[in-house]
Amino acid sequence: MGETRYRRFLVTGGAGFIGSNFARMLLQGGAERVVVFDKITYAGNPANLRDLADYPAYEFVQGDICDPAAVGKALEGCQAIVNFAAESHVDRSLLSASEFIQTNILGTQVLLEAAVRLGIERFVQVSTDEVYGDVAEGYSREDDPLRPRSPYSASKAGAELMVNAYAETYGLNAIVTRGSNTYGPYQFPEKLIPLMITNVFESLPLPVYGDGQQARDWLYVLDHCRGILVAMERGEPGQIYNIGGGNERRNLDVIMTLLDLMDGPTELITHVEDRLGHDRRYALSTERLQALGWRPETSFEEGLRETVEWYRANGSWWRPLKDGRFTAYYQQNYGARARLNLETPGA
Ligand code: NAD
Ligand code: TYD
Repeated sequence: MGETRYRRFLVTGGAGFIGSNFARMLLQGGAERVVVFDKITYAGNPANLRDLADYPAYEFVQGDICDPAAVGKALEGCQAIVNFAAESHVDRSLLSASEFIQTNILGTQVLLEAAVRLGIERFVQVSTDEVYGDVAEGYSREDDPLRPRSPYSASKAGAELMVNAYAETYGLNAIVTRGSNTYGPYQFPEKLIPLMITNVFESLPLPVYGDGQQARDWLYVLDHCRGILVAMERGEPGQIYNIGGGNERRNLDVIMTLLDLMDGPTELITHVEDRLGHDRRYALSTERLQALGWRPETSFEEGLRETVEWYRANGSWWRPLKDGRFTAYYQQNYGARARLNLETPGA
């Protein structure tokens, strides 16, 4: 990390996919103190952090960001908060939105309150390109209007507005990052890329929502984490930074590339009912962050290859996730039949 402005961090949601990669990056960079604060929901996994125990600077606290007392205690001695904690899966938000409002909006507000009360020097809100909504053409810029279209993205947009409110009202030194679709090691196998990789390993069908022509801008997780670091270190207070990989791909093309890499049979591809309100395309302009010296360093093909190899080598990490809570949830809620049941959300 070299000489850095911030050295003592609270990383909320740090037992999840991106947060655990970020906590590892901070420790490898020589951070003085990294407190991972995580509720350990279905998506939080202490196994993501196992190798961090060797760092004296690392501490793990199990707690809920909606709990002001627990947050206040965990923040002792920290300079900066990097908030990854969230309900993060769009399909789950279609089945039940209340946890999304609770954690993503209320939880963020609790963190903001604590940050002001305790004089935290920097607050980083990790947000998403999904707040721009469906972008038929062109590239979203940070000053474009917020047009979220799913309960997930609406809750993330709500959280951003709260961050802005605390920055404006109380002078909190806060920034927002809007990352694009991220992939890589430690991603819970409910999201497109790890679901497809692990299903190929298990010879299970690959469920393609609708026509599979929806496009996402894919970002390797370590490029995302570096982007957050750069924005945290060099970003202007109150500013928003897009972080995109510059790899726009349609879902079916992603799946075909994976099948090619893994030597998997195309017969596994199964078209299922489309997601309700499915955003067709997200795409980001990243000029603002590039002006601070950040660039994505991993090509999509290289990142996919590394990710496939990681899942190949780490069956003991993902198999229990697919065998247990996930499979029950998946069988109940996914697949064409289940998606038709979405008429009764939360039922
Ligand atoms: P994830 O679902 O893998 O991890 C979320 C983590 O937050 C889990 O460890 C979970 O236990 C924890 N958590 C949930 N509720 C909590 C609560 N109330 N208190 C404390 N901890 C709680 O998600 P991810 O993919 O790593 O995403 C991290 C952040 O990045 C999220 O805010 C998400 O919106 C954002 N983001 C994700 C992507 C992506 O493609 N995955 C892209 C852009 C932005
Ligand atoms: P996902 O990984 O859920 O991310 P997001 O919805 O936040 O972009 O999905 C990425 C894309 O892949 C999205 O267009 C939905 C699609 N998708 C499928 O076609 N099949 C699946 O089983 C999943 C999980 C996603």
